[in-house]
Amino acid sequence: MPKKRGFQTIRGMRDILSHDQVIWQWVMEVCRKAAFAYGFSEIETPVLEQAELFRRGIGQETDIVKKEVFSFKDQGGEFLSLRPEFTASIARSYIEHGLVNQPKPLKLFQIGSCFRHERPQSGRLRQFHQFNAEIIGSDAAEADAEAITLSYVILRDLGLNAAVQVNSIGTRDSRKLYIKKLKSFYQTKTRYICQDCKQRFKTNPLRMLDCKKRKCTEYIMDAPQIIDYLDEASKNHLMKILEYLDAFDLPYVLNPQIVRGLDYYNRTAFEIWLKDDDSGSRCGALGGGGRYDGLIEMLGGHETPACGFALGLDRIVGKIREKNIKVPVHARVDIFLAQIGDEAGKKALVIFDKLRCLGYNIMFNLSKRSLKQQLETANRLQVGLTLILGEKEVLSNEILIKEMDAGAQESVPLDRLEKELQKRLK
Ligand code: HAM
Repeated sequence: MPKKRGFQTIRGMRDILSHDQVIWQWVMEVCRKAAFAYGFSEIETPVLEQAELFRRGIGQETDIVKKEVFSFKDQGGEFLSLRPEFTASIARSYIEHGLVNQPKPLKLFQIGSCFRHERPQSGRLRQFHQFNAEIIGSDAAEADAEAITLSYVILRDLGLNAAVQVNSIGTRDSRKLYIKKLKSFYQTKTRYICQDCKQRFKTNPLRMLDCKKRKCTEYIMDAPQIIDYLDEASKNHLMKILEYLDAFDLPYVLNPQIVRGLDYYNRTAFEIWLKDDDSGSRCGALGGGGRYDGLIEMLGGHETPACGFALGLDRIVGKIREKNIKVPVHARVDIFLAQIGDEAGKKALVIFDKLRCLGYNIMFNLSKRSLKQQLETANRLQVGLTLILGEKEVLSNEILIKEMDAGAQESVPLDRLEKELQKRLK
C-alpha cells in the first residue's frame, strides 16, 4: 500500500529552518540597527485586524484587497483579515493609542510576517516578511528623503547594490486631471488591453501603468506621464527630495510608471530594486513605499501627513544567498564549557549557569559526552576559551582553561575561575 503523505506547509508558505537563521538574524539585525540609528523605535501590531481596516486603508479596488487578503469570519461572527502589510495597522494603532500627542515626527518600525493570497512564484509568497518603517507627522520632503535613504542604506549594509525608482503621483486634485487624460488616451485602446486593465480602466485607471502583461506594456510607454500634470507644490516636493538624494549620491532614476499597488499614496511613490540583477531570477522590487498624507484621517484620526516604506525580507535573503554574500561571523560565544563524566556534567551545569548569569557569552552541551565532539563544537564556534571539567578536576575542585588560539592550557582552582576569565577575556 502506498505510504500516506504526511502534513505539509500550506502553498506559498514555508518553514525557515535553523540553518537559514544565520542570514535571517543578520538581515533583521542590520535593519534594526539602521532604524535605531535613524531615530526609529519598534512597534508590534497584531497579525489579525478587522477586515474593514484594510478594505478602507488600502482601497477596495486594489488587487490586494480584491484578491489577496486572507479574510474569514471568526467564531463570534466578526470579519477578520490576516495583515497584508503594516501601514494600515500602524495608522490604526497611532489613532487608537492617541499617539497624536507624541513629539513629531513619530518614527516607528516593525518586522514580521504579512499574508497575501497571491499566485506563488519566484519572489511571491503567501506568507512573507517585511521590515516596515513609518515617519508620521511630517509633510516635509526631508521625511521622504530620509525614508528613501534608510531603505537604501539597509540594502547597502547588507552588501546589495540597489537603486531607487522614484515618482510623484501628485495630490488627489492634480491626479484627477491626469486620470482624465489617461482615460482619454486609453479610450480607443480598451479592446486591446488585458482583462484586468479593462477593469482597472473603469475602477482604478492609474494601476494600468503597473501592468506587466506584454500587450499592455507598449501602451504604457506611450501613455501621458503623470509628472507633466503635477501641481506646483508636488513638483517642488519631489525636486527637494531629489536634491537630498543627490547630496547623498544615492543612485536613483525617475520612473513615471511607479504608481504602487495601494491606494493611500499621494505625492512620493518609490521602489527599490537590485541594480545589477543579472541572475536571471528577477524576484521583483526589494522594497517600496511613499507618502500617505490622507490615510490616518481617512481611518478616523486627525489630518496627519506621513510617509514610509517596507522591504521584502524573503526577497532580500534570497538575493544574499544567490549572490553568495558572506554573512559576518560574530564570535558571539566567548567560552565553551566541556564536561566529561556524570559528576562533571552535574557540576558543569552549576558553573555554566553562574557564568551565564555573570554575563559571559558561554555555551555548553550536556547531551554531548565525548570530549572530541565537544572540542569540535568549540572550534566551530571559534571561541577564545574552552573550559574542561573532567573527573580529576571534579575531585580537585579545579577546572582546565584552554586558550584555543595559543593551544596553552592551565588548571586553576574553581574559586579563582572568574578572575582568570576576566584576565584572559580582556
Ligand atoms: P508593498 O510594495 O506592497 O508595500 O510591499 C513592500 C515589499 O514587500 C515589496 O517590495 C516586496 O519586496 C515585499 N512583498 C510584497 N508582497 C510580497 C509577496 N507576496 N512575497 C514576497 N515579498 C513580498 C507595502 O506593503 C507598503 N505597506 C509599504 C509602505 C510602508 N508604504 C508606506 N509605508
